[in-house]
Amino acid sequence: MALKITVIGTGYLGATHAAAMAELGFEVLGLDIVPEKIEMLSAGRVPMYEPGLEELLKAHVAGIEGSTGRLRFTTSYAEAGAFGDVHFICVNTPQKHGEYACDMSYVDAAVESLAPCLERAALVVGKSTVPVGSADRLAQRLAELAPAGDEVELAWNPEFLREGFAVQDTLHPDRIVVGVRSEHAEKVLREVYATPMAEGSPLVVTDFPTSELVKTAANSFLATKISFINAMAEVCEAAGGDVAKLAEAIGHDDRIGAKFLRAGIGFGGGCLPKDIRAFMARAGELGADQALTFLREVDSINMRRRGHMVELARDAVGGAFLGKRVAVLGATFKPDSDDVRDSPALNVAGQIHLQGGQVTVYDPKGMDNARRVFPTLGYADSAVEAARGADVVLHLTEWREFRELDPAALAEVVSRRLILDGRNALDATTWRSAGWTYRAMGRPRA
Ligand code: UGA
Repeated sequence: MALKITVIGTGYLGATHAAAMAELGFEVLGLDIVPEKIEMLSAGRVPMYEPGLEELLKAHVAGIEGSTGRLRFTTSYAEAGAFGDVHFICVNTPQKHGEYACDMSYVDAAVESLAPCLERAALVVGKSTVPVGSADRLAQRLAELAPAGDEVELAWNPEFLREGFAVQDTLHPDRIVVGVRSEHAEKVLREVYATPMAEGSPLVVTDFPTSELVKTAANSFLATKISFINAMAEVCEAAGGDVAKLAEAIGHDDRIGAKFLRAGIGFGGGCLPKDIRAFMARAGELGADQALTFLREVDSINMRRRGHMVELARDAVGGAFLGKRVAVLGATFKPDSDDVRDSPALNVAGQIHLQGGQVTVYDPKGMDNARRVFPTLGYADSAVEAARGADVVLHLTEWREFRELDPAALAEVVSRRLILDGRNALDATTWRSAGWTYRAMGRPRA
C-alpha cells in the first residue's frame, strides 16, 4: 500500500512539501494550528506568493474541480496521527528575540502535540532547520510520548528549497539528505523519494548530527560566498576596480563557480541571516565557537552593506536626506517572493526614512507584507509612481519588472536622473544613454 503522508506546518516549506508529495502520488494531509491558513489552503489558495505553488495545490486539493483529491488539510493532531505513515515536520525556527540562537518552540510543540497521537507505526521526519543535537533530543521525546513505542521512529531530512523556486527545488532536488538510525527508516524515505531519485537526485544517507549540520553548513557557505564578493566590492570601491567584472572572471573557474557572486546590498530573508547566527550560537554551546568566528565577519560584512547603501544615497542627494524624495524599487529580500523578513531593501528604506528622507516604496509582490512591517513608509502602486518627483531612485530588489523599466519614461517623472543599483542587476549602458547618472556598488563611477 502506498504510504500516507502528513505535513505539519504549512508555511513556505510545508505548503510546498505537501503539494509536492501529492504530485508524487501520495495521499497527503497537511496540518497547521492556524485555522485561517487551513481554510485558505483547503480552498486551493496559497497564503504567500510562490511561483507555481497555487497551480500545484489546485491540482491536488480535495474538493477542487478537476483535482486528484489527494491533498487535504486539518488542524487536528489526532487526525494526523491516525492518518500518517510518515509525518514531516516543516514548522519554522526563527531567531530568538535578542539572541543569536534559534527558537525551537514550534518544533518542540509539533513533536509534543503529535507524539501522543501516534498509536501505530510511523516515521516522523524533521525538515525544519535546527541546531545540531536536536534530532537526538526529539527522538528521546518521541520514545517517551508515543503510545506505539518502538514502532515510532525519527529521521532527519533537511530541506534546501529556495523561495521563488520552491516547487522546482522540491520536485527535483539537487540532493536528498537523510539522517537515519535504522535500515527501516532509510527504506521508507527511499520510497517517499523514489521518483526524484529515479530522475537522478542523489541520496546521501548519514547520521542525525551530520544531517542537521549539512543544512547549516550549506547556508553558511552560501552566506560566506555572498559576503566574500561584497568584501571584494568594498576593496574595488577603494581601488577603483569593478566587482561585477571581477566576479565574472573568477566565476569562470569551475572550482569557484559563477553563482552567488552578485555583489550588492547583501543577503537577507528568513534563512541565511538567522542560520549563520544560530550556527555560531550552537557551536559556542558545543565549545567549538572558534571554528565559526569567521561567520561573525560574514555577518558584519553583510550588515555593513545596508549602511553603505544608505551612505551612497545620502552622498548622492547632497549629504542629508532632509526634504529629499527617495524612490525605493523593491521591498522583498529577493525577487519572485513576497517575503520581507530581514529584507535588506526594507532595512535601507527604513534607515533613510529615519534620517528624514521622504521614502516611497514599490514592490511587485511585497507591498502588503512591507506595509505591515513598516507602516510609516510611503508606498506607491507602480515604479513610475514611486519615482515621481524623486531626487534619487534606489534599485534594491532585482525584479525582472525593474530590469524592463524604460529609463526614458522614468526620466519624465523624476526630479533628478540619478539611480543607484543596490543589486548590480540593471544595464548601466541603457540607463546612462537615457541621460541618467547610474551608480552601482563596487563599480567605477564612469
Ligand atoms: C536559502 C538557500 O539558498 C536555500 O538553499 C535554503 O534551502 C534556504 O535558504 C533555507 O534555508 O530555507 P532563500 O532564503 O530562499 O534560500 O534565498 P537565497 O536565494 O539563498 O538568497 C538569499 C539572499 O542572498 C537574498 O537576499 C539574495 O538577494 C542574496 N544574494 C543571493 C545576494 O546578495 N547575492 C547573490 O549572489 C545571491
